[in-house]
Amino acid sequence: MEYLIHDAQLLIPVPEHHREKLCQQREEQKLLCQEGERPGEKKASEKDEKATKSRWCASCPGKGARDIKPCNLTGWWENDLGSKMEVFEVDSDGTFFGEYHTAVSSAKKPIQPSPMTGSQHLDEDGQCTFGFTVNWKKFSDSTAVFVGQCFNGDDGKEVLHTSWLLREKVSSETDDWKATRTGRNTFTRVG
Ligand code: BTN
Repeated sequence: MEYLIHDAQLLIPVPEHHREKLCQQREEQKLLCQEGERPGEKKASEKDEKATKSRWCASCPGKGARDIKPCNLTGWWENDLGSKMEVFEVDSDGTFFGEYHTAVSSAKKPIQPSPMTGSQHLDEDGQCTFGFTVNWKKFSDSTAVFVGQCFNGDDGKEVLHTSWLLREKVSSETDDWKATRTGRNTFTRVG
């Protein structure tokens, strides 16, 4: 779904039948911008041009543009360890809640689904950053935080690259040095 930014707060969905027209207008405006470059003014670098194209062409079909969707984390995701998470509805601020089903644990008690709470950016380019916290209170004293970014892979599928910190509870301050682990997980959408 395409969105028009009406003001700083409001996103208005663009009906499907207006989308093609909008994309055409964007292509025309892009050409005008390029033609309007002033002599002596520095030409945009190749990287800048690419970024511009990907911004303009987000969700526009054809002309080599990929069909990029704005990223919304709502749904089921699975990572490289086999852990799954369900992100419930993402609100208009980007705030969300969910449930994390880890496949691995260093706790003694049996693993249980664990509540997560997070926040994502709502960029139109399908490449938003996000973060969430998982509280393992049902079976562990630890807390994990994840930060990441959504990408559209070459196959057009969404992929989340994340880094995490897992804080274990230790019984004394002298053990603080060994209480935090870090790692990375990659998630793909499974629902
Ligand atoms: C614990 O072991 O105390 C609680 C479970 C921690 C699971 C970790 S969080 C980072 C990594 N990614 C996963 O999907 N699971 C592990």
